Amino acid sequence: MKRELRETADGSMTIYLPEMDEHYHSYHGALQEAKHVFIENGIRLFPKKDTISVFELGLGTGLNALLTAIWAENNQQKVTYFGLEAFPVEREMNLAMNYPRMIPESNDFFSKIVDANWEIETNINSFFQLYKCQSKIQNLQLNQQFDCVFFDAFGPRAQQEMWDFKILEKTIQLLAPNGLFVTYCAKGQLKRDLKALGLKVETLPGPPGKREMTVAWKI
Ligand SMILES: C[S@@+](CC[C@H](N)C(=O)[O-])C[C@H]1O[C@@H](n2cnc3c(N)ncnc32)[C@H](O)[C@@H]1O
Repeated sequence: MKRELRETADGSMTIYLPEMDEHYHSYHGALQEAKHVFIENGIRLFPKKDTISVFELGLGTGLNALLTAIWAENNQQKVTYFGLEAFPVEREMNLAMNYPRMIPESNDFFSKIVDANWEIETNINSFFQLYKCQSKIQNLQLNQQFDCVFFDAFGPRAQQEMWDFKILEKTIQLLAPNGLFVTYCAKGQLKRDLKALGLKVETLPGPPGKREMTVAWKI
């Protein structure tokens, strides 16, 4: 599928898929959206523990992984991060994203994330270990549970099947008891499905350009 680089409103880059008419991030600001949703209203809410495990659906450019690696180091909180991606971004395009220039604390983390081998645990810094898994969520066989799930699929308009009850159910099975599910989406159907799966759902203010986002706790 053809991918094009685009600049978003905060100056950070994203990828645009013309065939799906879909962006990897909010065009109101990729960086500010990722920080707001997955860090400030995501992993930051999870109680401190020896190691927090994260499962991301849609590793994409690695922006959420980068921000989590920085957060882990700043907070001296160990994080293991399982990044699932069915269709990896080509290396050259991935390295063309301007995140390290926009985020001085990136150090060499971004290039390490891009160049980390698939299906091998890689230390990105002393607090952040990454495992990149190339698979469709539909084919994933994983006997593991995680403290946080970052659900960062393309939107329901572009890829409805990712928001179907079966995929959500499979994803929620990957969440440990007391685990936190985070997504930028705030659609009513999603929230009803999460409630039906037994989660405690909260609607939070969204990043600039989006009214709301969703977090849900497995109780
Ligand atoms: C919104 S983008 C993710 C953006 C990403 N988190 C980032 O920081 O750049 C959605 C991602 O889901 C991936 N994807 C699409 N279908 C998938 C599937 N069936 N299983 C796993 N990943 C899928 C896409 O290739 C894309 O990278």
